[in-house]
Amino acid sequence: MPPKQEELLNILKKINYPGFSRDIVSFGIVKEIIINDSTILVSLLLPKENKKIEAEISEGVNNALKEVPGVSDVQVEIGIREQSQKSQDTASTSKKLPEIKYYIAVASGKGGVGKSTVAINLALAISKKRENVGLMDADIWGPSAPIMMGAVNERPVTTGNQKILPIDKLGLKLMSIGFLVDEEEAVIWRGPMVHGAIKQFIEDVEWEGTDYLVIDLPPGTGDAQLSLAQTVPLSGGVIVTTPQDVALIDVKRGILMFQKLNIPVIGIVENMSYLELPDIDTPIDIFGRGGGKKMAEKFNVPYLGEIPLDPDIRIGGDTGKPIIESKPDSKAAKAFVGIADKVLDFLE
Ligand SMILES: Nc1ncnc2c1ncn2[C@@H]1O[C@H](COP(=O)(O)OP(=O)(O)O)[C@@H](O)[C@H]1O
Ligand SMILES: [Mg+2]
Repeated sequence: MPPKQEELLNILKKINYPGFSRDIVSFGIVKEIIINDSTILVSLLLPKENKKIEAEISEGVNNALKEVPGVSDVQVEIGIREQSQKSQDTASTSKKLPEIKYYIAVASGKGGVGKSTVAINLALAISKKRENVGLMDADIWGPSAPIMMGAVNERPVTTGNQKILPIDKLGLKLMSIGFLVDEEEAVIWRGPMVHGAIKQFIEDVEWEGTDYLVIDLPPGTGDAQLSLAQTVPLSGGVIVTTPQDVALIDVKRGILMFQKLNIPVIGIVENMSYLELPDIDTPIDIFGRGGGKKMAEKFNVPYLGEIPLDPDIRIGGDTGKPIIESKPDSKAAKAFVGIADKVLDFLE
């Protein structure tokens, strides 16, 4: 007796996308399973071309299905979504992705290292040099752009064609997933829920007219990152870390994540690098300075710069006045400008 479709699908549900906790079925890359007596053809659609991932998934599917009683031969066919599917997808759902020139993802291995601070000040620094800059706060579990940008009381409006308009704030187009989803509900979201929220967040917001979109990702390497990479063509990723070893461990995972998703690593930013005190000549390296640079060298990715610990950054974050705006002459603000220059060099 030939095996049943459902039985095979259930087996595929146990195979994770390489490097992620999400299985290949729930992620939607399994397009078709064709059963021809004892021969099975599995047709998959990957978000981007990546020979290593293709080989890994193919092997996983092969090994899992050939054990099934009644199966004598397994063939895996892999297509790439970018070329083959995206145009059809958009046509069929009438959702059109905005034509944004550069998507810049800001990521970190863990929370609390200053990812949002860097994302916001980077976006603002870019907007001093380029037009049409946007900030998209996609941190489902800890959106902080509304507070940090001074926009807690604002609510985005929806246009006639059901698109949500980003808010204009400090010269940026700003949108936070915090405006759209209830944080308390989102706490337990995993896998498909996250994927749906991220996808909708991109498709339903009117980003048209934005050329540089800086995206504040949730910390870590998981479903949200994968979903975003599958939804939009990310131009590159910036990884934020603090200098101490326990934070640096996760930098490697961040780099590997971007590489697995075929997204170029724009570089590493070391935040909270050192503290300068008035009347004292030597800065204090609270978390040990220079770890970010060492990691960049070790993994052969660019190093973008270091940001000092500065109470004005924290105050700026709490009061909705980012340091680039409130203290443009500070060392920290200048460091952000230097980082923005390097990011623009990389992109353009
Ligand atoms: N260089 C810095 N100096 C002082 N405070 C900082 C610095 N970077 C971030 N902070 C503060 O640390 C806290 C965590 O930063 P945040 O950007 O929210 O981190 P993440 O997004 O990684 O969780 C915030 O209160 C922020 O204002
Ligand atoms: Mg944050």
